[in-house]
Amino acid sequence: MATHRLHIVSASTRPTSAGRPLAHWLTERARVHGEFAPTLIDLGEVALPFLDEPEHPSEGRYLHQHTKNWSATVGAADSFVFVMPMYNGGFSAPLKNAIDFLHQEWQGKPVGLISYSAGTSGGAPAVEMLRPVLDRVGLRPAPRTLSIPGIEGHLTPDRRFRATPALTGDADAVLDAVATLLTPQRPRAGATRS
Ligand SMILES: Cc1cc2nc3c(=O)[nH]c(=O)nc-3n(C[C@H](O)[C@H](O)[C@H](O)COP(=O)(O)O)c2cc1C
Repeated sequence: MATHRLHIVSASTRPTSAGRPLAHWLTERARVHGEFAPTLIDLGEVALPFLDEPEHPSEGRYLHQHTKNWSATVGAADSFVFVMPMYNGGFSAPLKNAIDFLHQEWQGKPVGLISYSAGTSGGAPAVEMLRPVLDRVGLRPAPRTLSIPGIEGHLTPDRRFRATPALTGDADAVLDAVATLLTPQRPRAGATRS
């Protein structure tokens, strides 16, 4: 049953983003997964400026309408998948900026991490670089990640994402791992209360 509100965040703002088709494909994949009501959030469309709030985001007192809108968007999600490019060995500046804008809205929510790059790493170093940032805002990364090398090679001439069976299985495993983090843990049989 589709109960969990999953926001799939496409973390490139480039008009020619190679990751955007991947994020679209993943949104459809999440829809057929069964446990999610997915929404695609394109940071290119969100179009946040660089952080321009006078107060620390953890105060939750936002001055600007763009921050209030972003707060409502992120606050409405139960979980996320970040579809993130690697730029110069790290995560994209728009993703970091979008995270920095808020605080409470991220707290305790699971996040799946799917990276991609032109080269052979698939952006795995960017994922590792992001982990301490996620920790600071209380996002809970799913233990299963996916890194896709040679992203342009996965696009059709009309720039749709062309998935292989292996990639589909790996993406589904990330979605499963996010769903597991959303499932309340049942107490172990025989566990005693104190
Ligand atoms: C500023 C910039 C830096 C990049 N740095 C790397 C890199 O360090 N390693 C790599 O494999 N690809 C790198 N690339 C290639 C990107 O991974 C590739 O262009 C990818 O499509 C970018 O995602 P996007 O198209 O969704 O913005 C870089 C691209 C850009 C624009």
